[in-house]
Amino acid sequence: MLSAEDNELLTRTGPSTAMGEFFRRFWMPVLLSQELPEPDGPPVRVKIMGEDLVAFRDTDGRVGLLDPRCPHRGANLFFGRNEKCGLRCAYHGWKYDVTGRCVDMPTMPPESTFRDRIRAGSYPTREWGEFVWAYLGPAGHEPELPGLEFALVPPAHRFVSKKLQQCNWAQACEGGIDTAHFSFLHMPVSSSDSERDEIMSRSSADRDRTRWMRDDAMPEFQVVPHDAGLAIGASRRADGSGLYWRVSQFLLPNHGLAPNAFAGENYHGQTWVPITDELCWVYCYTWNPERPLTESERQRLRAGQSVHAAVDDSARSRASAASPSRTRASRTARASSRIAPASISARRMRPSCNSAGSCCVARAIWARASSRPRRARARPTRCARAARSLTGACRSRRS
Ligand code: FES
Ligand SMILES: [Fe+2]
Repeated sequence: MLSAEDNELLTRTGPSTAMGEFFRRFWMPVLLSQELPEPDGPPVRVKIMGEDLVAFRDTDGRVGLLDPRCPHRGANLFFGRNEKCGLRCAYHGWKYDVTGRCVDMPTMPPESTFRDRIRAGSYPTREWGEFVWAYLGPAGHEPELPGLEFALVPPAHRFVSKKLQQCNWAQACEGGIDTAHFSFLHMPVSSSDSERDEIMSRSSADRDRTRWMRDDAMPEFQVVPHDAGLAIGASRRADGSGLYWRVSQFLLPNHGLAPNAFAGENYHGQTWVPITDELCWVYCYTWNPERPLTESERQRLRAGQSVHAAVDDSARSRASAASPSRTRASRTARASSRIAPASISARRMRPSCNSAGSCCVARAIWARASSRPRRARARPTRCARAARSLTGACRSRRS
């Protein structure tokens, strides 16, 4: 069991916390690129690790991420005007570029150089894999962007989304790397064959894999820690003497690759980003390194297949109705958690064979990493290809 002290260590991510300092040494997704669709469009609120920020895409297409408090009198820059390569405060018109530099100060004479001494707080951003990533750590220590494969393939090979999960990032991450719950939570529940067929048509798993997971709720785990995280293998009895292996990946600091793909199938992954200590965004990605995704695959992913969540349009319209003149404010509330078909049966799992082992190893790695943030040097780039080769499922004999 995780102690209360360790739980605090892992889940507190605000500024000056150990885990917060650790996370701030990595690039973190803060938005989907599609949430800032056009130059000079409306600014968007961002909240990450307890910090309130405002993002905007300037005239040249660059993304700025600023402290929303205007350095002049503290007006919120979310209500500012995004125009001509800068975000102009609505109160007295001071204007800031994507780096936070004050580039116009209409309340001062044109010859004044006072604006040169004014900066809004800002963080560097990059667009990568259709996400906007931000680095919130100390200047000059930016690492490489994570070389996750979904971001390396052409856009036609990739689908991305995000979903809100109402728990802390570590709880969400544990769910992502836990293979055992598939025998229960994600098992189709149906009263007829036709209904089961209909459910299966929406699933990314085929009949055999679903049956193996349903019939063997006691997967045997093998967890292999490495420099950049964990490989988590779980075997279930398949047909005859075969085994169905599902191998998921955890990559530091907060990425996970799902274990469901046979060779040639699509891969799925997630990155868990704290909003606060009780809420997180899950950035989701599906990709195929060998071919573009088909339109029907995209439709199923948009409808909530695999790691993705269907967009709850009713929630969006409710948010708009609550704030009719500020539809942009509803953008941060647009995703909803997916509720999968669920059934708790009377079957029990052997305690020694559940997924708690992998979660414990993951927690130990996080705790070690967060206790020495300045020395942490995980290298997901170097390990991304090895991770993919391990990710997915294969059948083999149990040794
Ligand atoms: S408060 Fe922003 S310009 Fe005055
Ligand atoms: Fe799940």
